Amino acid sequence: MFGQIAERYDLNNRLHSLWRDQAWRRFAVRQARLGPTDEVLDVACGTGDLTRAFAEAAPPPRRVVGLDFTPEMLLVAERKRRSGRGTWPERCSYQQGDAQFLPFPDSSFDVVSIAFGIRNVADPRRALREFARVIRPGGRLIVLEFGVPRLALVRWFNALYCTRVMPRTAAWLAGDRSGAYRYLPASVATFPDQVGLAAMMRDETGWPQVESHGLSLGICYCHRAIRPQ
Ligand SMILES: C[S@@+](CC[C@H](N)C(=O)[O-])C[C@H]1O[C@@H](n2cnc3c(N)ncnc32)[C@H](O)[C@@H]1O
Repeated sequence: MFGQIAERYDLNNRLHSLWRDQAWRRFAVRQARLGPTDEVLDVACGTGDLTRAFAEAAPPPRRVVGLDFTPEMLLVAERKRRSGRGTWPERCSYQQGDAQFLPFPDSSFDVVSIAFGIRNVADPRRALREFARVIRPGGRLIVLEFGVPRLALVRWFNALYCTRVMPRTAAWLAGDRSGAYRYLPASVATFPDQVGLAAMMRDETGWPQVESHGLSLGICYCHRAIRPQ
């Protein structure tokens, strides 16, 4: 399904978030509080927009690995990396893999991120345990995900937009017949909200410190869990 929408995925993200999605990713990068020796793993990286945002941060981390299980998404990410200007492409690499079985030893990254991906993983609890396993003491887990806005009017408008408007326009733009853009909003509705996701992160990592920030009136949430030293 993700393979079907890969080519127009970025355009759809920009248009349907009214150009907010890259600002949400930049917020996630700031939440990671990067240092120059940090190593970052961006899970379910898709076309690599968050991976790139990490690699372009100031100060930049030492390396950023983007991991995803959809080859078509990784092809787009790699194409963007190869045509990228400046030094960020040198810090980035992409590889195929499953969030639930990360191909890395324990404690191998300072930051693990996942943007708009945790709700798509078949067993999100297992993935969260994997993230905790590969994060070093003092490291950060950053999860960006859609939330349920608290204001009733915003909630109503957002639900209408996501269920009636976006699935049609996004599928048309992507030339998609797989039903991906009906599935994506449905997966938001059936996944735990921001409070439930923060609790899930606390439960599965066992780390007490989880902070959540609402963005764009709570349409999106950035959660950060910190592994105790
Ligand atoms: C909605 S896209 C998000 C892409 C990107 N992180 C972004 O910010 O736009 C979800 C991605 O999750 C990936 N994905 C879903 N389940 C996965 C898994 N178990 N392991 C790795 N990637 C997965 C899909 O291939 C897809 O690229």
